[in-house]
Amino acid sequence: MADRDPKGAHGGQAPALEATLWSRRDIFSLAGWAGFFGVLGASALAFTRFMFPRVLFEPSPTFRAGTPDEYPAGAVSERWKKDERIWIVRQDDGTFYALLAICTHLGCTPNWFQAEDKFKCPCHGSGFKRSGINFEGPAPRPLERVKISLSDDGQLVVDKSLKFRYELGEWDKPGAKLKA
Ligand code: FES
Repeated sequence: MADRDPKGAHGGQAPALEATLWSRRDIFSLAGWAGFFGVLGASALAFTRFMFPRVLFEPSPTFRAGTPDEYPAGAVSERWKKDERIWIVRQDDGTFYALLAICTHLGCTPNWFQAEDKFKCPCHGSGFKRSGINFEGPAPRPLERVKISLSDDGQLVVDKSLKFRYELGEWDKPGAKLKA
C-alpha cells in the first residue's frame, strides 16, 4: 500500500487556503459591497441635505400696521415696539414716520417718555427727541427712520429693510414720511 502524501495533491497549499476563514474572493466581494453601500449612503445623505437646505428663515422686514385713523395725531404709538422694534409717530399735521427703536450708541432699545416728550436709552442714558434726533448721552447720531407707505387697501405698511438716516439727509426722501 502506497503511503499517502501528507501534503495532498496540491503540495500542501489547498488545505491551508481552505482553513482560512475569509477567502480572497470573499474579501473582494465584501469590499465591493462596502463600497456600494458607502456610495449609496453618501448619495442618500446628499439627497437629504438637498431636500432640507440650510436656509435661515428670517421674519419678513415688512408688516402692515393698521389704518391711519388708528393713530391719533400728535402721538407716538408704541403698538409695534415689542414685536417689531418700531414706533409709529403721527405729527399734528397728520404726517407719519416710523422710527427704529434701536439706540445708535450700542443698540439697546430706548423707552418713550410721554411726559418728557423724549426717547431715553436705559443702557447709557442717550436721549432722543420725538423726531429721533439725539440730544444727550453717548449716541453719536439720530435714530433711524424706516420706510412707511400706504397699501392699496388703505393700510399703513412699514418696511424695515429700507432705512433713512438724518445725518445723510435722507429724512426728506420719499418713503421716509407719509402724508395720510
Ligand atoms: S446703547 Fe443706548 S446709550 Fe448706549
